[in-house]
Amino acid sequence: MSDIVFLNGSYLKKHEANVSILDRGFLFGDGVYEVIPVYHQTPFRLKEHLDRLNQSLSSINIEPPFNENEWLTHINEIITNYTDKHLSIYIQITRGVSELRDHLASTQKPTVLIMPSPLTIKFSELKPINAILLEDIRWQHCDIKSISLLGNILLKQEALSQNADEALLHRNNLLTEGATSNIFLVKNNQVFTPPKSPFILSGITRDVIIEIAQQYQITIIEKELTVSELYDADEVWVSSSSREISPVTQINDKIVGQGGIGAISKVMHSAFQQFKQSLLDSPR
Ligand code: PDD
Repeated sequence: MSDIVFLNGSYLKKHEANVSILDRGFLFGDGVYEVIPVYHQTPFRLKEHLDRLNQSLSSINIEPPFNENEWLTHINEIITNYTDKHLSIYIQITRGVSELRDHLASTQKPTVLIMPSPLTIKFSELKPINAILLEDIRWQHCDIKSISLLGNILLKQEALSQNADEALLHRNNLLTEGATSNIFLVKNNQVFTPPKSPFILSGITRDVIIEIAQQYQITIIEKELTVSELYDADEVWVSSSSREISPVTQINDKIVGQGGIGAISKVMHSAFQQFKQSLLDSPR
């Protein structure tokens, strides 16, 4: 078995898959993407990821190249050829190849890539992280999962230079999200997260967390949160498809809450693991 990628209708070895220098993804960052976790060879929340992909495509006026069944066929082919049963599927769609580098040049068809990668964290791992707080320097359409990630990358680089794993972001003192994740905070046993808006990506993991919290009588309140509420929180965690739930135990020089992983973070992490397991146990 060898790892393969899907590129424009062909299954290829990763190092044999090439894209033209005139691809608008390469020249302009003109495209969108998705990252879908796969557990025990089963894509997690596939429909929701594909719905969000279609929304991103519609926002930038690209027709969806495949329907749900076609996506599933290609994704399954990659999963069954991958060396591990847990992985992450990266989908990228760009506007395609044009005749010359012109901002408005037209293209015949989009470029479609499906690529497997290892998962960032070990299966079911609960790993605390450090974060720093930075001003959100990104554009005003962070709800589109754009491949133009320069803002996110600069923020992550700044976090790394300060030995932090994630940058938590604010605009005019209001929290938005992490550079690669959504953010939750706990105060007096209540959980809060910033509401959906053009300033955050509507995370699939974020939605799952809100949904399953109800089963544990934990209500998650979606409201605008200030920087001082972040510093005052008893617990903080970030969520994403590659991190699942990662407790943030330090922000800049400040220890969050009592230090260590908080009680509600632990409950939510185990609820998330049980939810994953219940999907794997149910007939497919
Ligand atoms: N990023 N916000 C941002 C800016 C993100 O980049 C991500 C995930 C999220 C969480 O979304 P989800 O729960 O659907 O993964 C929120 C992915 C994993 C990435 O860029 O690799």
